[in-house]
Amino acid sequence: MRQKELMNLLSQMSEAEKINQLLQVSGNFYLEDTILTGPLQEKGFTEESISLAGSVIGVSDPAKIMEIQKAYMEKHPHHIPLLFMCDVINGMHTVFPIPLAQGAAFDPELSRACAEASAREASASGIHVTFSPMVDLVRDSRWGRVMESTGEDKYLNGLYAKAMVEGYQGENLSDENRMAACVKHFAGYGAAEAGRDYNTVELTEQTFRDSYLPGYQAGIDAGSALVMTSFNTVNGVPATGNRWLMQQVLREEMGFDGVLISDWTAIEELIAHGYCENRREAARRAMEAGVDIDMMSGIYATELPGLLSDGTVTREQLDQAVLRVLTLKNKLGLFENPYKDADVLKAKQTALCQAHRDLARKAAAETCVLLKNEGVLPLSQSREIAWIGPYVKEKNLSGAWSMFGNSQDTVSLEEAAREVFPGDSYVEGCPVLENSDELIGVPGVKAWSCLKLQQEQEAALEAAREADVVVMALGEHRYQSGEAACRTRIQLPQVQLELLRKVAALGKPVVTLIFGGRPLELGEVSELSDAVMQVWLPGTEGGHGIVDLLCGIREPVGRLPMSFPRNVGQLPLHYDAFTTGRPQFSKEGEIKYYSQYLDCPNEALYPFGFGLGYTEFTYEPVRLSCDTMKKGETITASVQIRNTGRQRGTEVVQLYIQDLFGSSVRPQRELKGFQRVTLNPGQEQTVSFQIEETMLRFYTERKCYESEPGSFRVWIGSSSAEKNHACFRLTEK
Ligand code: BGC
Repeated sequence: MRQKELMNLLSQMSEAEKINQLLQVSGNFYLEDTILTGPLQEKGFTEESISLAGSVIGVSDPAKIMEIQKAYMEKHPHHIPLLFMCDVINGMHTVFPIPLAQGAAFDPELSRACAEASAREASASGIHVTFSPMVDLVRDSRWGRVMESTGEDKYLNGLYAKAMVEGYQGENLSDENRMAACVKHFAGYGAAEAGRDYNTVELTEQTFRDSYLPGYQAGIDAGSALVMTSFNTVNGVPATGNRWLMQQVLREEMGFDGVLISDWTAIEELIAHGYCENRREAARRAMEAGVDIDMMSGIYATELPGLLSDGTVTREQLDQAVLRVLTLKNKLGLFENPYKDADVLKAKQTALCQAHRDLARKAAAETCVLLKNEGVLPLSQSREIAWIGPYVKEKNLSGAWSMFGNSQDTVSLEEAAREVFPGDSYVEGCPVLENSDELIGVPGVKAWSCLKLQQEQEAALEAAREADVVVMALGEHRYQSGEAACRTRIQLPQVQLELLRKVAALGKPVVTLIFGGRPLELGEVSELSDAVMQVWLPGTEGGHGIVDLLCGIREPVGRLPMSFPRNVGQLPLHYDAFTTGRPQFSKEGEIKYYSQYLDCPNEALYPFGFGLGYTEFTYEPVRLSCDTMKKGETITASVQIRNTGRQRGTEVVQLYIQDLFGSSVRPQRELKGFQRVTLNPGQEQTVSFQIEETMLRFYTERKCYESEPGSFRVWIGSSSAEKNHACFRLTEK
């Protein structure tokens, strides 16, 4: 449809039609004979509004989507199609590793491919919009939603945001196999105080703009069709009713002109926040902020008629919001083809097709991070291995947001391992959790009887005694991370730690695999194990991906996208913290009055960017093409690296820069680039990075993004803890 026709359509719509374009309802309303009881009607879900609602959340069956669309459009006065939206987060039927794991691949192109595959499966199912990517910067692993993010680094998050948006959307939203992306949760949701979900966010404007906004900006610049508001407050004002945040920052400064959708009932929550006294005020605030779609609170449907009739909300405001929704429908080509790619047969054929499974296997392997290896890995096939732990047989390896994947389609660790090590023993040894107390609202986690636990433990210890090597498959329950899954204790469940202690006491080499959605305290695990590998929630092909690494068919190439703390008391923890006036141990001999803990080092147990492979690399000193750089010029930083191990291997060479003095304090270092380099044993290569002035910009005291002349330090190395560095000065002319 041309713009003129769209405007024409808008002018013909009644007020009720317009208002309800902004309403998003659950697909259940169309699927069953939903009885609209009093409370539902109070929320605005009347039969009229449902018959005019602009979009639907949560239906994923292509036949049902087509049926709903057909019936809806026939009745709709202007035959405007519905938009179908879903949370397709890390895959649809083929489930890829969770987003945090994808961050660990340090490979946005891999995530682009996963997003493309997800869009292929989802669009064939009739889905038009996915609520992904989540680009919230995360620094506190108590927060369960760290699993949905790509980590603690703004540069890395930005690259992933761009790759994922482009992967979902392609060149044209109306093209086959494409769907619209939704960058979320705007803004700052990852900074929820004390890592507790939905909690207050207090950030200085500088940190907000410098660290938190770049990820969203990258997604918006890549053309994300939608942005979702966040549940939290931003410096005292809930994001969903925050006019400054949405109008000035998002629309004017960041240039977003697509559809802004609230998070689930977030408009209604303006009342619980104590920001709005009633539904009417909540509707007004959200409209003033420019929120176009009301996800599931029904407040626009009930309140906008009154607000329009007394002029509190203008008809222009309403038209603008409706036009944005219609424009999205138009970009998706829904006026020409309301079913878009929905196709029952194609959906079946694409779901879990071999190409997607192959990609999932590669992704599962490339997202694992080897944290420790005292010569045990890769495993030799001639040795007898005992595979022990609750994740040996677990078939659900997909994470909290994978509602379309079926665990029966997942390859468990045991299934994959049996293909290579058929004669080994496979024992659970203990359940994931002692009981369901650690999971609120998730029924069905049953405690084992004492007898069963004892028998399984004995079987596990027996298997370990008989074996040459033990692989322990441990981790959090998949519902211990995700939305509303925050924890103040971030250790392995006790029942598993006890099993590990007993097995380790036998003195056999132990390889521990850690499943889960967040950085845990791994100090004791690491002490008890000869090798440790973080395998996250690796998805449909998780078992294969992990076994490929264990037996050396592939080499681990993952690097940590979040710092792993020594203990929970260090949180929030991130490598790009500001320096203090009293950096730790800054003066020889004086150890007390510095910024440090009495009982724990400041540093992470495993720092951001860290990860081992199966070979070793040495680095020569960092070289700069020039030790001064004029604005407008570039300099080259390079380093020679050499594979000094015995195997061909891949290194993720990372570039960090610190602005040593600024008009506001600067992070201790910031990631500015990385390259994957694969070398044969004995081979050397020079790795170079161009440093440009734009890479040195930050939000300065003058309230703009600019660089400031002065001294900079440059590190090139294998993690954020790298010491190999050189310095240069930036001059005006
Ligand atoms: C989450 C969003 C999600 C939405 C729709 C909310 O609870 O915060 O991330 O997209 O639900 O399912």
